[in-house]
Amino acid sequence: MPHADRPALAEVLGAPHRWYHVMELAPGVTTPGFIDLRRHVEASGLPPALHGQRALDVGTFDGFWAFEMERRGAQVVAIDVDQIPPPDTPRSRWAAVQAELDGSVPGTGFELLKRWYGSSVERRSVSVYDLTPQAIGGPVDLVFVGAMLLHLRDPVGALERVREVLRPGGRLVLFEPVDRELSRKKEPMARFLQGGTVWTWWYPNPACLRDWVTTAGFGELREHGTCEAVDATGNKQRLLALHARA
Ligand SMILES: C[S@@+](CC[C@H](N)C(=O)[O-])C[C@H]1O[C@@H](n2cnc3c(N)ncnc32)[C@H](O)[C@@H]1O
Repeated sequence: MPHADRPALAEVLGAPHRWYHVMELAPGVTTPGFIDLRRHVEASGLPPALHGQRALDVGTFDGFWAFEMERRGAQVVAIDVDQIPPPDTPRSRWAAVQAELDGSVPGTGFELLKRWYGSSVERRSVSVYDLTPQAIGGPVDLVFVGAMLLHLRDPVGALERVREVLRPGGRLVLFEPVDRELSRKKEPMARFLQGGTVWTWWYPNPACLRDWVTTAGFGELREHGTCEAVDATGNKQRLLALHARA
């Protein structure tokens, strides 16, 4: 039975929004999007049942992971930044970022999907650097961080903030791209990319991603596995799932 606030399909698909996530609206009907993660959910190692848990999705964009965690039974809060340009944009890139984002309203896709699914996920406009339990209505049992550390100046600082909102022993699920070539190296390394791209700071190798997590104070680090997700540009992203405990 559709709920009263459900938008028409045409409203969702016709919205002036550049979708990041391919989202299933009905069997065989999806939003367009930059990346289709539906086949890769299990590779993240997200626990199948999250009933009774409170979860946080960091850098939610259209909300793919937030809605997935809600489907698995969690009570979910999601955060993202709404400033244009986003806070980590270097001064030299402001004009390029502003031109690219011209006219876009952050959260448009998320709010449409929330109404479409009749979801209770709450989206808050909070930067990961400003995370505190108060900023998200209390501590959480699980934090999901997907494809976000690469966009930050200070990934370790962000992970420190993430750790502070987790209950003691709470779980971090990271699902981040790693650099294919540097993955051959055992030493921790990250490729610095702000010299040539607008959005991305780092492409780490797995050893570097692990060290970011332990440097931020997490323990019980476990590699869940990798997968290859093809984005709309045809680029194959190698995503590594790492789990750890606060
Ligand atoms: C590449 S998208 C990843 C979306 C989603 N997490 C996923 O795994 O598919 C990166 C997201 O991180 C958000 N983001 C960037 N800087 C952030 C910050 N300082 N705090 C919170 N979110 C941020 C972006 O706005 C964007 O929604």
